[in-house]
Amino acid sequence: MQPPSQATPDDPDWTLRDSAALYGLDDWGGGYFGVSERGTVVAYPHGTPDVTIDLHEVIQGLEARDLYPPVVLRFDDILAHRMGHLRRAFDHAIAEAEYGGKYTCVYPIKVNQQRHICEEIRDVGRTLGFGIEAGSKPELLAGLALTEGHNDMLFVCNGFKDQEFIETVILAAKMGRNILPVVEQTHELDMIARSAARHDVTPRFGVRVKLASGGVGRWAGSAGFRGKFGLSVSQILAAVDQLRAEELLDGLRMLHCHIGSQIYDIRTLKYAVSELAHVYVELVKLGAPMGVLDLGGGLGVDYDGSQSARDSSINYTLEEYAADVVYRVKAICDDAGVAHPDIVTESGRALVSHSGVLVFQVLGSRTFPEVPDEALVQRALAQQDEAETPQPLLDLVDAWERLENGADPAEVYHDADHALSEAVSLFNLGYMDIVSRAATEEIYWAVGARLLKELGDEVPEDFADLPDRLGDIFFSNFSLFQSLIDAWGIDQIFPIMPIHRLQERPTRRGVLADITCDSDGRVDRFTVAGEPDTTLPLHALREGENGGPAGEFEPYYVAVFLTGAYQETLGDLHNLFGDTHAVHVVANDDGGWSLDEVVEGDTVREVLRYVQFSPDDMRRALRKEIEAAVASKHLTLREAVRMRRFLDDGLDGYTYLE
Ligand SMILES: Cc1ncc(COP(=O)(O)O)c(C=O)c1O
Repeated sequence: MQPPSQATPDDPDWTLRDSAALYGLDDWGGGYFGVSERGTVVAYPHGTPDVTIDLHEVIQGLEARDLYPPVVLRFDDILAHRMGHLRRAFDHAIAEAEYGGKYTCVYPIKVNQQRHICEEIRDVGRTLGFGIEAGSKPELLAGLALTEGHNDMLFVCNGFKDQEFIETVILAAKMGRNILPVVEQTHELDMIARSAARHDVTPRFGVRVKLASGGVGRWAGSAGFRGKFGLSVSQILAAVDQLRAEELLDGLRMLHCHIGSQIYDIRTLKYAVSELAHVYVELVKLGAPMGVLDLGGGLGVDYDGSQSARDSSINYTLEEYAADVVYRVKAICDDAGVAHPDIVTESGRALVSHSGVLVFQVLGSRTFPEVPDEALVQRALAQQDEAETPQPLLDLVDAWERLENGADPAEVYHDADHALSEAVSLFNLGYMDIVSRAATEEIYWAVGARLLKELGDEVPEDFADLPDRLGDIFFSNFSLFQSLIDAWGIDQIFPIMPIHRLQERPTRRGVLADITCDSDGRVDRFTVAGEPDTTLPLHALREGENGGPAGEFEPYYVAVFLTGAYQETLGDLHNLFGDTHAVHVVANDDGGWSLDEVVEGDTVREVLRYVQFSPDDMRRALRKEIEAAVASKHLTLREAVRMRRFLDDGLDGYTYLE
């Protein structure tokens, strides 16, 4: 929905629609997010604006419940809506093409293993004919528990397997589960044969093929001849011979491939599906019963909203993906006179990304002054006769005066930049004192900040590094390594924007720095007005008046969207920042919202235990030390009580700043 276009009271030239366009909300939001008349971000949990949940209201409501950001907001209704969307896209494609098989999506647990999410997917998935996929022993057990009582749900098991893994799957199948192990390595066939003989069953299994058609982008290595998983076509041929000889060919029911996650170019998919379907028909011709064609994951998400073949985007829709898959498989099977197989995809990212939103508070910012500190400059000049004043300082003072008198900021900036580098050289050689050095920096920053302001969003090539050098730094209460690992590990771009104050024009630009003690802990890749950018427009923090006491800032909340896939469990404990709180937010019939589930984040005690500290031993030892400090009069009793309270509250508190 388009936000209201009227100008806002705070800035007659700025509208809510301008904010939505600046942050690209309609481009990446998938119809699940919009802007309210109050200038806040709202979620549309059912994909239409008739039901809304105000994210800013939710954060205030959480704080009233003593739950402070950082927090992950999970919208189960968005998740269910995405699942329905995928179902409808394939149903439509199947009907259009008069395709003979059916479609199933099996949710890969690894994409987000949190129990509440898996259970939601299981519950909604049951009604949509979806299943589950696991890739490790813990995921196998989680999947068995999830599908307990739902024997008909398809359960696909990928990944490296040992005899115990295979045995569990064979026995689960014997118990009546619809479970299919996928052979990834040739020796797994022997393990299947052994287990089947031991338990006297005819096993059903699939095989993963290494396609020649590679994937694209970061996960291109998932496919191709040197891919880590799967059997080459020649190994599959040999496997068929072996299975026939052992009278087990009847068990080969599925052909599987996975050409990588976030397939951003539909052409890659077309090639892969064609190759996969051709291998499928050949296997049928060789006498394998088959029946299921599993395309793996890869269905992408448009993180930057550009609808293009960039690695943070996709150049196709869900409908196009479904139609391409169905059409290609049908055409190849029809040509070969082979019955249409059931189609399975292991779509994870595309199902859960939209339902997760990370919200954190900006704690403060480092901004470069637009006017130099006059007192500092005067102090530097007063220190010495003009003849002895370092030339770079004089040049910078002159540059500033010219700027004040209307000279071209770009020209002045070139001079200031040159003077600053000379000043640094002089200082390093011992020919400039610290006060003069500080004054030169102050003037340089002010000239640069003035130029940046003048340039606005149109930064020419010549000054491309200026936003990086002089943009603001917004210190934010979260850990990149815990909550946004792909922004660090693989330079993934996520949509990021404030969730309130959207009626105001954002007047600052900067990067987001997290609270870990790691200089890598910052986000400096964004999409602004549809283009990649190294800084994000944000609002100036408001001091005092409406917020906390003077010197503290009015709370300013920023959200990272589309974080539902991979971010929650791939993250780590860098600096011992633990899991954040996660809450499941649902819309009420009365127009409000409520919390369906609250999953509290890690306490300090819990993260210390992860790294084998014993919080109780620590507490005992530190209390002893405090007592000793009282005895030796290093601490007063009152100070000792404070220290003990800090210890106790600290151990049971949140790992983030409170
Ligand atoms: C075998 C397999 N299936 C499914 C997926 C999920 O992929 P996506 O999240 O791109 O749908 C993956 C992830 O890489 C995978 O390795």
